[in-house]
Amino acid sequence: MNTELSFEQAPSPARDIPVLTTAELEADPHKAFRRLRTTHSLAEHEAGGYFVLRHPDVMRLGQDRRLQATETAIPRQRGLTEGPLFDIFQDGMLTSNGAVHGSRRAPMSRALAGRLIERVRTHARDASEALIASFQRAGQAEFVDQFAARLPVYTLARMLAVPEKDHPSFARHVLQMSRFFSPSFTDGDLQTCTAAAESLYAYLEEMLHERRQRPRDDVLSDLLTAAADEGVLSEREVVAQVVQLIVGGTESVRAAIVAQTYLLLLNRNQWKAVCDFPELVPAAVTEAMRFEPGIAGVVRVAVEAIDLDEVTIPAASLVVLSTMSAMRDEHVYAQPDVFDIHREQASGLHSVFGVGAHRCVADALARAELEECLQVLTRRLPQLRLEEIPVLKGYMFTRDPTSMCVSWPT
Ligand code: HEM
Repeated sequence: MNTELSFEQAPSPARDIPVLTTAELEADPHKAFRRLRTTHSLAEHEAGGYFVLRHPDVMRLGQDRRLQATETAIPRQRGLTEGPLFDIFQDGMLTSNGAVHGSRRAPMSRALAGRLIERVRTHARDASEALIASFQRAGQAEFVDQFAARLPVYTLARMLAVPEKDHPSFARHVLQMSRFFSPSFTDGDLQTCTAAAESLYAYLEEMLHERRQRPRDDVLSDLLTAAADEGVLSEREVVAQVVQLIVGGTESVRAAIVAQTYLLLLNRNQWKAVCDFPELVPAAVTEAMRFEPGIAGVVRVAVEAIDLDEVTIPAASLVVLSTMSAMRDEHVYAQPDVFDIHREQASGLHSVFGVGAHRCVADALARAELEECLQVLTRRLPQLRLEEIPVLKGYMFTRDPTSMCVSWPT
């Protein structure tokens, strides 16, 4: 089965599937998905590819082996066939399939298990406190750049035991490289993204080399031990999994922090409830990720034709399992378009972290980070006010928040 197909090679679209335009999706993706979801399971994107809209279909097809990860198709479509950005797709777990995927994911799963979560809570709390302290006296901030974008990077830096002196350059390289994965990436960003990825690879290679010589009680040493036990990954692949961890843990968390903060501030009584009763923090994080997710869906290629209800997705099509649409499915959630931290929480795994073999390898860690961040914000800045409502752009994979000015009395 060839999973390296360019999406442009996909056969002509199946008939009788409603079309979503780019303009409609960019204007309001929730509205666009809602318009079709009640009557159709599937929508076609005018630019190519399909959206699966309903919760049960997204969950079922997330486990279907006829839908495969995209391997190197995405960088190839951007004209990239080598270099560090290409290597993230070629060597990383997110874009690989089958046994190769399993061998890349297993060591990382082991390294992230257990007591790391408690450590991440401390790192996220410390990073939140430090960032707030850096701007608190000003009485105002642009929340996306000054807080939400930095918190995940500084938490990752602490988690990977990057020495304090290197935090600024580590953060700069991560943020520059991450633009490649953002929906607002343009060709003009390529050079900076590539240079940043090169620096990051070199830096991590050195850190891993050092851990091989002198193992420590940290996540990189645990990863090396787990990889050595499995015995199949090349050194370059081990670095790629760390880069992928960084990529996975940056944009998604940034968007989630923006979403949970602005949604609570827009619904002031719910913000106040969280300030007064911190035990509501986990429910607030869960509901914000449902209502306005940081990742919009899971992107796959159909390696065979797939029938869904009365229509057929042709082989070689790009398919987005839209968790964003599924989490507003009116057959699963009562009043899905209402943000309500008191809603009865669905038990089990949160759909925002995906489904199947690639389900987020760091979901518990992400939750811990988001919870600590909200705890600190509500405690340190209970009088936070929203001066500008951000919009989360993007409806396929990562989502990009526009700016969000906030203020507070000093
Ligand atoms: C709210 C925050 C987060 C959300 C919504 C999220 C969501 C997701 C989703 C939907 C996937 C599956 C993608 C697919 O199947 O194509 C995924 C995979 C992944 N995530 Fe997360 N994630 C978050 C935070 C994190 C963090 C903090 C890290 C690392 C520190 C991380 C690392 C990864 C990695 C490495 C994968 C690839 C797993 C695999 O392919 O087996 N994510 N994430």
